[in-house]
Amino acid sequence: MIEDKFKRYTVTSALPYANGPLHIGHLAGAYLPADIFVRHLRLKRKDVVFVCGSDEHGAAITIKAKKENTTPQAIIDKYHHQIKDSFQDFGIAFDIYHRTSSPIHHDLSKEFFLNLYEKGEFIEKYSDQYFDEEFQQFLADRYIIGTCPNCGNDNAYGDQCEKCGSTLNATDLINPKSTLSGNKPILKPTKHWYLPLDKYQPWLEKWLLEGKKDIWKTNVYGQCSSWLKQGLQPRSMTRDLDWGIDVPLEEAVGKKLYVWLDAPIGYISATKQWALDNDKDWQLYWKKQADSADDACLINFIGKDNIVFHCITFPSILNAHGDYILPENVPANEFLNLEGDKLSTSRNHAVWLHEYLEEFPGKQDELRFVLASIMPETSDSEFTWKDYQARVNNELVAILGNFVNRVMILMHKYYDGIVMGGAELKNEEIYTQIGNAYNLVGESIETYKFRNALSAMMDVARLGNRYLTENEPWKTFKTEPEITREVLQNCLHIIGHLSVLMQAFLPHSAKKIQDMLNLKKDVFHYDEDLVFEDGHQLNLAQLLYEKVEDATVNYQIEKLNVKKVVLEEQTTQVQAAKENISFEQFAELDIRTGTILTAEKVAKTKKLLKLTIDTGIDQRTVVSGIAEFFEPESIVGKQVSILVNLAPREIKGILSQGMILMAENPDGKLSFVAPSAAVANGSVIR
Ligand code: MF3
Ligand code: ZN
Repeated sequence: MIEDKFKRYTVTSALPYANGPLHIGHLAGAYLPADIFVRHLRLKRKDVVFVCGSDEHGAAITIKAKKENTTPQAIIDKYHHQIKDSFQDFGIAFDIYHRTSSPIHHDLSKEFFLNLYEKGEFIEKYSDQYFDEEFQQFLADRYIIGTCPNCGNDNAYGDQCEKCGSTLNATDLINPKSTLSGNKPILKPTKHWYLPLDKYQPWLEKWLLEGKKDIWKTNVYGQCSSWLKQGLQPRSMTRDLDWGIDVPLEEAVGKKLYVWLDAPIGYISATKQWALDNDKDWQLYWKKQADSADDACLINFIGKDNIVFHCITFPSILNAHGDYILPENVPANEFLNLEGDKLSTSRNHAVWLHEYLEEFPGKQDELRFVLASIMPETSDSEFTWKDYQARVNNELVAILGNFVNRVMILMHKYYDGIVMGGAELKNEEIYTQIGNAYNLVGESIETYKFRNALSAMMDVARLGNRYLTENEPWKTFKTEPEITREVLQNCLHIIGHLSVLMQAFLPHSAKKIQDMLNLKKDVFHYDEDLVFEDGHQLNLAQLLYEKVEDATVNYQIEKLNVKKVVLEEQTTQVQAAKENISFEQFAELDIRTGTILTAEKVAKTKKLLKLTIDTGIDQRTVVSGIAEFFEPESIVGKQVSILVNLAPREIKGILSQGMILMAENPDGKLSFVAPSAAVANGSVIR
């Protein structure tokens, strides 16, 4: 790689907002690729520090706190730990997972601000900003909604319309409303400190447009050049907010640093903390060295929505400061979709990492494998459960697992798992092919082509399978014992190398294989010899991967369909439990199954349907308040549960005899409570 000239590497993954759990989109976007990259560098014995942490400031956090009716501190404490655990569970091998609420980070961020301030870099400027008079506070962009001037979406935010994707200023919105009070905000002047990106434009054109052409990924370079073409504007680095890092100026009491100023500095403060904990010098990883040949190589892994901050704003800040190195590369990924739809935290359309691990314990490598094979490297890609099933079954189980398993079983069956007479791989062709695989995997990872890298790794498993099948040791065992042993021991070498190559992608199962081979080492660097001594004893085969059944994926698909309900509402609006009742009281309820025979709207009402129900006992009329959720014709023939001994009541002039049982979601949506398979009408429910 061009970066091979460096002595040290500083690798970062975008700091996730500590406002919710992680899902597969996060993993595929900025964490798995970085982890593969870092593991690979370490296998090459490179000096690398890999840092990340929680992004704990900004409106993302305060809005979540408001929604959950709690404090920002409670939110970040909850999610910081959950996120940290998920990363650890999936083997994302950070040297440190830090947090931006830490004092060391606050101090460093203030130091950065003051450094630029003292150099006179900031433009100080008053501007009119929206202010909520009832709440007596200025409104962050995310606290203002209104109509998008471009597409007419009524729920556009002050900084962006999520419907048409355009970037907005809060003052662009038609009919702006404060999300705090619901009132129309007033404009009020306020002072802020602006980073003069327009002034840095010529420098950026040289450093980025000239310097990174043909080096950065085209999706990243393209976005940057279009920003630069539009011409950069000064961007405010301070905010009127009550959550964040104080602006370290006397005249700025009550103001906070812009979250996109402090968050990337979080990479540096995390490195500082790591250095403190491990007796290292953080400056070697971040500062320009006396001899520039000693500079570290900085690589920032992010998702595409972060490109402008990492390619334009943060480098401008580092450059204005002057002491710091700049990113060599910012290999941003595009987005991952899920089952034909955008991943969405608020609609709960996601595969959550902590849920996945509960439902698929020990199967983190399966998910790593699938996400690496569909990684959105150059364009958006899509995760579907059927595809997950196909990739696990057809590749991990049928190729990789099957090869390893067949060899291990035969070695035990024929030789009690004992390797004999010589250590090395005795097949030129295989030797060459494995060598090529190492090169191809390395080159691909170093050029951020993780899908290619993964498939080059899998080619080694394919090679092994083919070699085994062609040589049929089970047929030659009796007639040609020597050849049989050689073939199987060559296979052991293939498995050993496969496990070395797998370490970057599938660290958990690589370890399992190395345990089976009884190779006693924590890590196998690429340059280490794989030797099986004469008499080396293999361990028993363990199951590597299991076939994914149809029922498993169907359940997951079903789960996604039913749970498109706002997450917060589920957790906060569940009704409180009622007082206990006796069994006798319960037994007084006569609940039966019945079938809807006819349904019509009750005139001059919005909510009521008049239903005729076959209760098994009789046919009767029930008036039910479900008209907002169901078209009458769509529910005829439906089986329902009905409380038949409810005293008859007159509703809108109709005698209603009984009540249909409905489940009410916290958002008010109703659904029928019905037997899961058809039963005779009149069956008792208890
Ligand atoms: N928290 C941001 C997001 O999730 C990413 C911050 S990356 C950093 O979009 F560089 F600012 F740390
Ligand atoms: Zn719009």
